[in-house]
Amino acid sequence: MEVVVVDSPGVLLADAIESLVRKSPSCVVGLATGSSPLPAYEELISRHRSGTGPSYADVTWFLLDEYVGLPPGHPQSYRATIARELTDALGVSDVHAPDVHSDLATAGERYEESIAEAGWVDLQILGIGSDGHLAFNEPGSSLSSSTRLKTLTARTRADNARFFASVDEVPRHVLTQGLGTIMRARHLVLLATGSSKASAVAAAVEGSVSASCPASVLQLHAHATVLLDEAAASSLERIDYYREVWANKPDWQGL
Ligand code: GLP
Repeated sequence: MEVVVVDSPGVLLADAIESLVRKSPSCVVGLATGSSPLPAYEELISRHRSGTGPSYADVTWFLLDEYVGLPPGHPQSYRATIARELTDALGVSDVHAPDVHSDLATAGERYEESIAEAGWVDLQILGIGSDGHLAFNEPGSSLSSSTRLKTLTARTRADNARFFASVDEVPRHVLTQGLGTIMRARHLVLLATGSSKASAVAAAVEGSVSASCPASVLQLHAHATVLLDEAAASSLERIDYYREVWANKPDWQGL
């Protein structure tokens, strides 16, 4: 795992996505919602608008998760959110999300099949919940789980209440890629900013691998990158070492 602490982690993520798309124009990118990736999305949109970004015409996009119970097109559905925050501005439409509007019992399996048909994800963007969740895999989730229905914890519903009129409107259920699904992506890039994420980041990066901290599964991935600002990195014990590695990284290596 590589841990990188910089002022603007979103710019590094935007660079990594662009470099993948230039190298493999028909790649598969895994998208995350939430506030953490927004600076990266803004950077990609601004480069696209100024004509310096790559062509996204052949890229396939998969969302990590989706709320269950919101009507189609609800502004807080993750499908609507990612369209508003990224994909509409890039002018792309090959965007997949778990199908929460028909037969929930088979929706997970169908989503897994669609990712498999696309050849699995090349680069998966990830945020982290304040309780260590990854996508919507709450503490206790199997480290080898696949896409399925999950029940949100009270803490996650409270964290996400800011997007709704009240916490009562935050759906209780979601369809989420499993930790096993996420682990099949070839490169995982987790982005976290702000002091509210510091303890979850420390548990994920330096704690034991455990279902109690779903994001700790990244320790088992051969190519995982954790991009942090100073505040999110503030509880890491090995922070001096991570800085030394980054400062002395050979240019040819990339992320
Ligand atoms: C939600 C999403 C996660 C995201 C997390 C953190 O629960 N399902 O994918 O990582 O929130 O969100 P934020 O980046 O807004 O802190």
